[in-house]
Amino acid sequence: MAEFRLPANSVVKQGKTVHAADGASRKRRFVIYRWDPDTGENPRLDTFEIDLDKCGPMVLDALLYIKNELDPTLTLRRSCREGVCGSCAMNINGTNTLACIRSLDDYEGEEIRVYPLPHLKVVKDLVPDLSNFYAQYASIEPWLQAQSPDPDRERLQSKEDREKLDGLYECVLCACCSTSCPSYWWNSDRYLGPAALLQAYRWIIDSRDEATGRRLDELEDPFRLYRCHTIMNCTNTCPKHLNPAKAIAEIKKLMLERSL
Ligand code: SF4
Ligand code: SF4
Ligand code: FES
Repeated sequence: MAEFRLPANSVVKQGKTVHAADGASRKRRFVIYRWDPDTGENPRLDTFEIDLDKCGPMVLDALLYIKNELDPTLTLRRSCREGVCGSCAMNINGTNTLACIRSLDDYEGEEIRVYPLPHLKVVKDLVPDLSNFYAQYASIEPWLQAQSPDPDRERLQSKEDREKLDGLYECVLCACCSTSCPSYWWNSDRYLGPAALLQAYRWIIDSRDEATGRRLDELEDPFRLYRCHTIMNCTNTCPKHLNPAKAIAEIKKLMLERSL
């Protein structure tokens, strides 16, 4: 059987442990992935025991308590703290999600393990490098394209056509879906992944957009679209309860229909 080993400099080591102050009544342990490219050291897992009475109810609250009170070098992205900016995406107890909308009560057991989104280069600690992800998003040209003369006022859309965008426009581009997709892990240089494809479908199905044919042409490729094997990790993990796998299936259906 083939044996795979991590390169020595990427083996994750045991890091420090910080205990909660004496007298803490509601303790919870956070095991957090740490890596600082400036030190030249291996990644490590630091353990922080915190008193839940001292922080808010969400996982992001606990991480910010750790950063503010215990270790200011802990690095993570966040902005809105209400699930709309997509920046606090990370892997919590094995699932990609948004730390700001996950309650600490969602997790059983004394320990919560926090890692950056998987299968991306790490910039520092919980911050992954999303350059390729954003470049792929840009590649689907996520804006309205129309050759018809500009109307005097807004471009109108029927209620029914507008409803076709439900379940698509809510995507916050957090990358939880793409980084949970095995096809994306192995082919992210050529496969667009569920997030970019859901966004592509959002413009393909928009009745006001007139670039549908060209958009489909761009996706007609064994890798860009057809690396999706309907494994469904994307849909299962989306913290906004969207269904990227369905959007991908709809694109494939449109491809089939236009080839008949
Ligand atoms: S589809 Fe869901 S998981 Fe994927 S980027 Fe959008 S919001 Fe995030
Ligand atoms: S359904 Fe497609 S995009 Fe979603 S996880 Fe599976 S292979 Fe990836
Ligand atoms: S901080 Fe904006 S989605 Fe979590």
